[in-house]
Amino acid sequence: MIIAVDGPTASGKGTIAAALARHYALPHLDTGLLYRAVGYQCAASGGDPDRVDDAVLACGFPDALLADPELRNEATGGLASRVSVHPAVRQCLFQRQRVFALQPGGAVLDGRDIGTVIAPEAEAKLFVIASVEARARRRFAEMQEQGRDVSMADIAAELAARDERDRKRAEAPLVAAPDAVLLDTSELSRDAAIAAAIAMVEAARKGRTDRL
Ligand code: C5P
Repeated sequence: MIIAVDGPTASGKGTIAAALARHYALPHLDTGLLYRAVGYQCAASGGDPDRVDDAVLACGFPDALLADPELRNEATGGLASRVSVHPAVRQCLFQRQRVFALQPGGAVLDGRDIGTVIAPEAEAKLFVIASVEARARRRFAEMQEQGRDVSMADIAAELAARDERDRKRAEAPLVAAPDAVLLDTSELSRDAAIAAAIAMVEAARKGRTDRL
């Protein structure tokens, strides 16, 4: 079974995808990390994330970079969002994600375009959303835990800018697949969001079986 979990930044999609992977004993790919690695590598090597040639060059990042905690910070998220607008970068990362999705037994992938581009055939598609306030609050708590000195206002502005860029880009914009189910986590605890996601996957599976 392929499970696609898409949604904007800090909506809870990563936590939900990881929990679904554990629940169904499936491998999980956080596809945002790939874009973050490209953005980080591009900037670290003196490139300009807005220039397609520089961004494409950075697609050859070493796999070890994926474990670097620097990829998790908000600044790298911004770089990721800038390199991700280039269709050539998306093309470079496509095969890796597609192969992951098609492994025997299935997989859980989270990102922005899993249900629309990477695995349109996914059995279950969730589109996870939350209000900007709820997302900024969560990101702020995460950053504080990591001992990073950031302001709530800066985080909210950064999230809004990233959402705008992700929604407006021409290629693979952030948009729910027509057959995705919407999960709003604004008012849900972590456990309640996970329980709701599992119920949605079960309903999608049942719907499919009923249609066979
Ligand atoms: O999910 P995360 O915040 O780690 O993603 C970082 C950025 O990478 C996003 O803002 C988005 O621009 C890009 N991305 C994407 N397609 C994906 C996953 C992430 O364009 N499937």
